[in-house]
Amino acid sequence: MKIAVPTEIDEAEPRVAATPETVKKFVGLGADVAVQAGAGAGSRIDDAAFAEAGATIVDAAGPLLESADIVLKVRRPTEAEIQHLKPGVLVIGALDPFGNDEAVKALAGAGIAAFAMELMPRITRAQSMDVLSSQANLAGYQAIVDAAEAFSRAMPMMMTAAGTVPAARVFVMGAGVAGLQAIATARRMGAVVSATDVRPAAKEQVESLGAKFIAVEDDEFKQAETAGGYAKEMSPEYQAKQAALVAEHLGKQDIVVTTALIPGRPAPKLVSGEMVASMKPGSVIVDLAVERGGNVEGAKPGEIADVGGVQIIGYLNVPGRIPASASALYARNLYAFVETMIDKDAKALAVDWDDELVKATNLTRDGAVVHPAFSDQEGE
Ligand code: NAI
Repeated sequence: MKIAVPTEIDEAEPRVAATPETVKKFVGLGADVAVQAGAGAGSRIDDAAFAEAGATIVDAAGPLLESADIVLKVRRPTEAEIQHLKPGVLVIGALDPFGNDEAVKALAGAGIAAFAMELMPRITRAQSMDVLSSQANLAGYQAIVDAAEAFSRAMPMMMTAAGTVPAARVFVMGAGVAGLQAIATARRMGAVVSATDVRPAAKEQVESLGAKFIAVEDDEFKQAETAGGYAKEMSPEYQAKQAALVAEHLGKQDIVVTTALIPGRPAPKLVSGEMVASMKPGSVIVDLAVERGGNVEGAKPGEIADVGGVQIIGYLNVPGRIPASASALYARNLYAFVETMIDKDAKALAVDWDDELVKATNLTRDGAVVHPAFSDQEGE
């Protein structure tokens, strides 16, 4: 059972899919683990630490991938990587399948058994495998760190001999995993925090963190949560009411962090250009949804846009801005999943294709796209 951990190809991806901690555990399960030289560099893990944990260090990606039974990735394999993979290999990573049908087909075409960790169901058994949560949590924290850096004022109220510095006002839009961590982080830094969400369950969570909850709480709001715990797309009428409430609130804020997402859909537009214009110069907006179309008009992927003195931060791959922590948690998520596919007595790969976690995440197998959300017959 050979496990390969290549260096991520994308230069903007500093994370790595295994750490010395998880390598050691895989070796304990009877796996031969090979890590590409330099794979951990972006996450401050050197080759020696991987070797000490029991991994073989391999210089080139080609030979590493060619012999692998399991490949652990952060991002979807590139065409060049796919060419080195043997049919039947398990490839496990954050494969970003939504809207990437051709790439999913390419994985199928190569005979790869590909698993998209983002599709892991949010059930108790799979909590330790939830990459969306582990990475969103860090992104929420980092959003406040980035906002604090760009904000030219202090976050907490300070009473000094030279007078008082007021506390910053922080508004978090979307109180899921990232939003709740942003609220907690901003509170710890002493800001006055408010937040909004369309899921009614968010209200209590926001308030329990000491922030004020702001939302249009009508009948639609009371039903706006799927069984999986995600938000539904809201009606145009609701969105208009929400926009009016937000517009009124935004003008008084110093820092806004937006995190609103709906699985498989473009991010909802929550902050219009007009709303940005209503904010004070020197205010900061962090749009964590920028990779999925953005919540904020004027946000530019990968850039800090200055719109009338308001800085709109649109950093990509925000978990990658805190890579050592992000890799540590991501690698543990992958280990927790892969462990369920290994027969510990036989020390061999034993995938139960009927297991609900396997079924939920398996995109391609035996040359076909097998996931119902992505196969041609079912559509989305
Ligand atoms: P997400 O990343 O899909 O979306 C972020 C937030 O944006 C969500 O809270 C969503 O309700 C909100 N949103 C969507 N449209 C909006 C709009 N128009 N205006 C304002 N907010 C909007 O969600 P995430 O962070 O993955 O969490 C979703 C839920 O799942 C949360 O309740 C979370 O606590 C829960 N969860 C459950 C887990 C489990 O049971 N194992 C694990 C992780 C999360």
